[in-house]
Amino acid sequence: STTIMAQQKPFVANYDESKVGQFTLPDPLQIGSKQISSQADWEKNRATWLTLFADHMYGQMPKKSIKQSNTLISQKEILGGKAIQSIWKMDFAGKVQATVVVILPKSSKKVPVFMGLNFCGNQTISTDEGIPVFDKYVVCNNEPKFIKNISQAASRGDWASRWQIEKVIDAGFGTITAACGDFEEDFATGYKNGVRTKLASELGLKPEAWTANGAWAWGLSRMLDLAQSIKEIDGKKVILHGHSRLGKAALWSGANDRRFAAIISNESGEGGAALSRRIYGETIWRITNSFPHWFIPTYATYADRENELPFDQHILLSLMAPRPVYVASAFGDQWSDPKGEFLSAKEMEKVYALYGKKGLGNIEMPGLNQPVGKLIRYHIRDGKHDINEYDWEQYIKFGKEEVR
Ligand code: GCU
Repeated sequence: STTIMAQQKPFVANYDESKVGQFTLPDPLQIGSKQISSQADWEKNRATWLTLFADHMYGQMPKKSIKQSNTLISQKEILGGKAIQSIWKMDFAGKVQATVVVILPKSSKKVPVFMGLNFCGNQTISTDEGIPVFDKYVVCNNEPKFIKNISQAASRGDWASRWQIEKVIDAGFGTITAACGDFEEDFATGYKNGVRTKLASELGLKPEAWTANGAWAWGLSRMLDLAQSIKEIDGKKVILHGHSRLGKAALWSGANDRRFAAIISNESGEGGAALSRRIYGETIWRITNSFPHWFIPTYATYADRENELPFDQHILLSLMAPRPVYVASAFGDQWSDPKGEFLSAKEMEKVYALYGKKGLGNIEMPGLNQPVGKLIRYHIRDGKHDINEYDWEQYIKFGKEEVR
């Protein structure tokens, strides 16, 4: 990108453990001059960490609520009558609309659901023609499915493997998704057409005060509002998940919105689950140059002085306490630093211990395809950067054991 050229600094990712560098991680239980020693203390002070993440990395989150109306657009049976697919339109103050797909198994009881954003439009999750083709900018650009970053009908079901809808339904869970671009299109000036700009006065925040991560995290919370209004859904059992950049957003959302029952980070990497102090794969310098809209400008100033950050990503993960968390990596995705993700998950246990809950304990980085842990889980699977059937099999098991 032009920004990288302007900096005139070629980026070479480090993949050599001996060159990762030395670092000391901030203690999640040391908040300012206060040493946290009880659950009540943590509950009283955890917001200080959120404020630090907002001020140095992800930007502010709106404190004001907004007029939201949810309209059911269409509804039909799918999967041979096993599930009901509903298309909802969320409207915010008459200025922004987002389309949400809600697929629920037929059940006499309220169902738990998985919820996550998608990259390139709702139509990519299945070939079902009842799902409208997304019409805003997407990061996909491979013709003829996407032409100049606009989805075509030919992209229907293109990423069905990332959603595994039938498996999820058969396990008794629903699935809910919306395109991230309905909240903010994923490019440097995409915010001009998204919630940060269009809802600035309603939400009482200037567009520059927050970020794409914030806009996506906010969108997830509004999808949770919708889910909690649907009587077939158990609103206390909404499992938030996100892959890669959308995993970063899911973590930021889960830290801010404690109504999410559990959080799954799939290869969220730098700026997500991975420790920033580990110089391995993507770095703060690289991510803030490639994707300036994901973070506030302050974050870029920590490039090459990661040790001065007041936090690291293990503290973001710790903010999920006491809820179940799954951190997943892929061996073929060294860019997102699997070991940095594992170490980050391992550091969560201090805070979980305040709730009498166990973390990863003395478990070491596992081999491929061997999930470890329970309430806090981790796996590294073989294969490339993706969210696939193997990942979903683990998430369904996790959902059954820790949420349902
Ligand atoms: C890029 C980016 C990552 C991000 C990934 C994705 O590789 O550098 O930080 O997670 O895209 O979203 O797939």
